[in-house]
Amino acid sequence: MLPRPGEDSYRFALRSAFFLAVGGHLAWILGERGEKGDTDLRAAPGASRAGGSPGGSRGRTRRKSRPGNGRGVAAGLSSRCEDFEDDPRALGARGHRRSVSRGSYQLQAQMNRAVYEDRPPGSVVPTSAAEASRAMAGDTSLSENYAFAGMYHVFDQHVDEAVPRVRFANDDRHRLACCSLDGSISLCQLVPAPPAVLRVLRGHTRGVSDFAWSLSNDILVSTSLDATMRIWASEDGRCIREIPDPDGAELLCCTFQPVNNNLTVVGNAKHNVHVMNISTGKKVKGGSSKLTGRVLALSFDAPGRLLWAGDDRGSIFSFLFDMATGKLTKAKRLVVHEGSPVTSISARSWVSREARDPSLLINACLNKLLLYRVVDNEGTLQLKRSFPIEQSSHPVRSIFCPLMSFRQGACVVTGSEDMCVHFFDVERAAKAAVNKLQGHSAPVLDVSFNCDESLLASSDASGMVIVWRREQK
Ligand SMILES: *[C@@H]1O[C@H](CO)[C@@H](O)[C@H](O)[C@H]1NC(C)=O
Ligand SMILES: *[C@@H]1O[C@H](CO)[C@@H](O)[C@H](O)[C@H]1NC(C)=O
Repeated sequence: MLPRPGEDSYRFALRSAFFLAVGGHLAWILGERGEKGDTDLRAAPGASRAGGSPGGSRGRTRRKSRPGNGRGVAAGLSSRCEDFEDDPRALGARGHRRSVSRGSYQLQAQMNRAVYEDRPPGSVVPTSAAEASRAMAGDTSLSENYAFAGMYHVFDQHVDEAVPRVRFANDDRHRLACCSLDGSISLCQLVPAPPAVLRVLRGHTRGVSDFAWSLSNDILVSTSLDATMRIWASEDGRCIREIPDPDGAELLCCTFQPVNNNLTVVGNAKHNVHVMNISTGKKVKGGSSKLTGRVLALSFDAPGRLLWAGDDRGSIFSFLFDMATGKLTKAKRLVVHEGSPVTSISARSWVSREARDPSLLINACLNKLLLYRVVDNEGTLQLKRSFPIEQSSHPVRSIFCPLMSFRQGACVVTGSEDMCVHFFDVERAAKAAVNKLQGHSAPVLDVSFNCDESLLASSDASGMVIVWRREQK
């Protein structure tokens, strides 16, 4: 199905390339995949961590999307998320345990005490408006709110290689894309049932490290270890343009300028970030800057005036972005932890009604998910608190839940090398762990919520993508 010039040598090349690209700091699982050998593992009854996993069919059914328990959703229904409730089979699939305690709470409490000092003035605003909104939300706890009814679907078209990125389209409930180290990107449609892979975008000659949807979802940009970025039309899957990296280096991450989608920023293995004008295919004058290591993560703030870039030496740089010219001005540097690759950065202008500081969520191979406060308009960061996960070598990513909270608390979701998806309430001082989804059989690399949070997608280092269905009230 995929062009595989001598499958083994090809994969070996890809694997080596990736080690080259990320300097062996990140295992990217590729080296470890061989040991596991076959995906039968995950299908074996004993290995079915999720119990009623709809994806747990036996044997290798790779390169086909397996219809999950959402199969029964009547085709042609409107795309309202409540439709998932219509499927009685879905209700039987309780594919996870909620709020699993692993004895980590004590440790976490200690960490909280160590890391999370007193809230500074202004971080908590217990206003009457907040109380009112809480009352409106029915006073439900975040754990109740982030309960999941099981798996909706499992996509396994990429099971040969890791899926480093999975993303729902903007303001869209049912369109999903994921990119793979097998060199392709797939566009998936979850409704009408059965969920399907609409298109596979092929063209990159090596693994696809990252991609992003444009604001209107008409365009995707992707970055690859083949040292090019590509611009795709999501409508028909056409490759509109192929743009070589200005340094001829492996490209490791990308993001759209949130206000001007003609501009994207890419990060490469030669330590550079480049602002690229995708209308012209050229880098923007003054839009390049050097970091201290390979650039693994990028995130703009919502207005697009600040950019953060993280590298594999443990540093995060902030840049001022000039809207008129696309120029970058280096502002601040934060060493998260010397030598620990920064694998994910997500910015949020405010976390909840009660925590109004702009915040940054960071994964950095420290077995913790880190939450920073942005303290000025140059992007200076201050550690707010951290949450225990397992991450020592994989490029694990995390997100803020997309809906601004009208409840008490605010939720973040992260992948983890323990093969679980973790949810934390960043506002809860103790027992921040809200939920944990089990079902992957490899380190979970990325997570994405759809716009109304009715579905969550997670991808792993063995190429599996699971779509989880949220419990509806
Ligand atoms: C992007 O470029 C196109 C032409 O290449 C132009 O029409 C459009 O206005 C540009 N958009 C922005 C936000 O600059
Ligand atoms: C990007 O290219 C377009 C088309 O040539 C041009 O109009 C626009 O000014 C460029 N933007 C920047 C920031 O260079």
